[in-house]
Amino acid sequence: MANHQTFISYYIVLILVPFVWSSNTLTANQILSISSNLTMISPGNVFELGFFKLAGSNTKEDGERWYLGLWFYKASSKMNPLWVANRESPLYDSKGALKIYKSNLVIVNQSGNIIWSSSNAVVPSPPKTSSVVAELLSNGNFVLRYSDDNRGDSFLWESFDYPTDTLLPGSDLAKGVNRSLTSWISNNNPSTGIYSYALLSKNQEMFLLDAKSSPVYRRSFGLKTPYALGNGYYLLLLQVTYDGLLQQFSWSPTTREKTLLWRGPRDRCDLYGKICGSNSVCSLEKVDVHVFAGCTCFKGFKPRNWRGWWLRNMTEGCQRISRLNCTGNGFQVLKNVKLPDTKDAGLERSIGPKECRQRCIEDCSCTGFANVELDCFLYSSDLVDLRTLQSGQQLYIKVATSYLGKFFISS
Ligand SMILES: *[C@@H]1O[C@H](CO)[C@@H](O)[C@H](O)[C@H]1NC(C)=O
Ligand SMILES: *[C@@H]1O[C@H](CO)[C@@H](O)[C@H](O)[C@H]1NC(C)=O
Ligand SMILES: *[C@@H]1O[C@H](CO)[C@@H](O)[C@H](O)[C@H]1NC(C)=O
Ligand SMILES: *[C@@H]1O[C@H](CO)[C@@H](O)[C@H](O)[C@H]1NC(C)=O
Ligand SMILES: *[C@@H]1O[C@H](CO)[C@@H](O)[C@H](O)[C@H]1NC(C)=O
Repeated sequence: MANHQTFISYYIVLILVPFVWSSNTLTANQILSISSNLTMISPGNVFELGFFKLAGSNTKEDGERWYLGLWFYKASSKMNPLWVANRESPLYDSKGALKIYKSNLVIVNQSGNIIWSSSNAVVPSPPKTSSVVAELLSNGNFVLRYSDDNRGDSFLWESFDYPTDTLLPGSDLAKGVNRSLTSWISNNNPSTGIYSYALLSKNQEMFLLDAKSSPVYRRSFGLKTPYALGNGYYLLLLQVTYDGLLQQFSWSPTTREKTLLWRGPRDRCDLYGKICGSNSVCSLEKVDVHVFAGCTCFKGFKPRNWRGWWLRNMTEGCQRISRLNCTGNGFQVLKNVKLPDTKDAGLERSIGPKECRQRCIEDCSCTGFANVELDCFLYSSDLVDLRTLQSGQQLYIKVATSYLGKFFISS
């Protein structure tokens, strides 16, 4: 008898449930409306996807705006969403919905106009036995796929291809087409701002860029971030802030705490090409309470512009005192530096320091080398964007052995 009752109440619950969101998928005949207050939650309860509101200032034109976004499940409302679908086309009232239309994801407003679509492309209709569904995956990727095919390489569309300002773990800027992070325009407006973080070369070196796509900052290449985190599971995220900083933070889904691990640029030596020109190292000098950024030429190099150098305008950098010959060279070592820009450097994988050095000796045009674990970077031009760091890397610069004498004390 007791068993029978249990069965009946279970049955009733099942009948009542279908109109309540209980899953991480949206099927072709469902809608996710703002007014329902429903959200999709990723398996594992880490991410939540739904509509959110940003209040404008007090003018009517700048009133409330609604966006479809992704945020950490149960995150504080002060923390901005990690991904925004319709960053350039908000809804101006709370009457709108997300649905699947002609095999695309669309956001429609009250009058049924499409104000955002995942793609303008015509997606082939699914095979007869299948349909198109949208699914929020456990890693925060929101994907559109055929219901009978969940292989990653056959997604019709995925939000990881269109990051906003934050890189989620599992997403890779080197994959897909033109993936890049772009800042919000202000802390209260997800519309595309002026800073971006993107890949600039085959060597997968990433740069923080300004509105003119000029490099502003380059993250220390291959450096492990020193940080201490409590026990437990956490996620590492990279973000471009609206005011032009690149930052990494961690998120713990268990404690729901966000921890800032580092951000840059931190000081003037971090600014790409602003203080020191090529073939010199930027370092901070403390004079009383003031901190100055200054540059030092490599051994065997001299300032290109002495006058500017004495006036502390060092942007022209340094040049070799005498041309490098093909033979009779050695290497000066710079310890604890940020490695120069590898954008134009050659890269050979699975090569240790000995062999890397040998390659540089054998190649007359090689100007220096560095190893990042078993990645061997071979420079063949001027070396740019170096600075001293507390625990940096080692750079080997090719110079004639005559410059390696006792008067040049290796640092
Ligand atoms: C959604 O939330 C609003 C504000 O909290 C409330 O007024 C409304 O009744 C809710 N709608 C549903 C369908 O629960
Ligand atoms: C819906 O969007 C269309 C096109 O952007 C616009 O003309 C219309 O006024 C909008 N309707 C509402 C109710 O916002
Ligand atoms: C990628 O970006 C480049 C430069 O902005 C552009 O020329 C190219 O068309 C983009 N490719 C795609 C597939 O969007
Ligand atoms: C520094 O020198 C460069 C080139 O020599 C010049 O273009 C620049 O204006 C100078 N900067 C300052 C602050 O004087
Ligand atoms: C390169 O070789 C020439 C001729 O042998 C010599 O005069 C010059 O000093 C050498 N340069 C260096 C940097 O050793």
